[in-house]
Amino acid sequence: MPMVVSDLDLDFPQASVTAITGASGRGKSTLLYLVAGMLRPAAGHVLWDGDAVDTRPDGRRAQWRATTSGFVFQDAMLDPARTVLDNVCEPALFAGMPAAHARTRASALLDTLGVGHRAGHRPGEISGGQAQRVAMCRALVTDPPVIFCDEPTGNLDDESAAVVWEVLESAAQDGATVVLATHDRRLADRSDQRVEL
Ligand SMILES: Nc1ncnc2c1ncn2[C@@H]1O[C@H](COP(=O)(O)OP(=O)(O)O)[C@@H](O)[C@H]1O
Ligand SMILES: [Mg+2]
Repeated sequence: MPMVVSDLDLDFPQASVTAITGASGRGKSTLLYLVAGMLRPAAGHVLWDGDAVDTRPDGRRAQWRATTSGFVFQDAMLDPARTVLDNVCEPALFAGMPAAHARTRASALLDTLGVGHRAGHRPGEISGGQAQRVAMCRALVTDPPVIFCDEPTGNLDDESAAVVWEVLESAAQDGATVVLATHDRRLADRSDQRVEL
């Protein structure tokens, strides 16, 4: 079977932004899913702080993922039945944050990313670019030490893309490991490290 990505030996340091670049179909999303623990590698291992995470059973892997990382999917993957605010609060509540605190934090993030006025809407009532920013809020609401983003500015105008960059850069400055797959030169050029597939 052909490998989508192979022969990679990469480090994603703390307190930095790594951009994974490369033409469409080169395996950027696949690499993110592997490192985030959503796919298992056919060979080799994914280590977090020196521990192999790909060998953990599925349940423990899901639990570890939810508590350690935030993931922004390219197509947002919001729950269509819940409001924007409830979508953003959900990982915080799952992590045990008190509801009032989760709502305050979620609202502040939505305001920062310019989508606070959509808090009471459902995902079907907002644009693709707004959904992408809501998904970013959802990934950040628990202040995870590791943040993965798949084409986070794919649907955004320059102004919104600049805000997304500021939020990710600020998370990295606060110590987070940020890994993003992107076609966007503005993001790739500003990242601390670049991996070209
Ligand atoms: N679930 C899958 N099963 C089989 N092939 C896949 C799957 N997902 C992606 N691929 C293939 O793997 C390659 C890399 O895909 P992907 O990681 O999505 O690339 P990128 O994000 O760089 O566009 C592509 O050739 C794609 O068609
Ligand atoms: Mg992709």
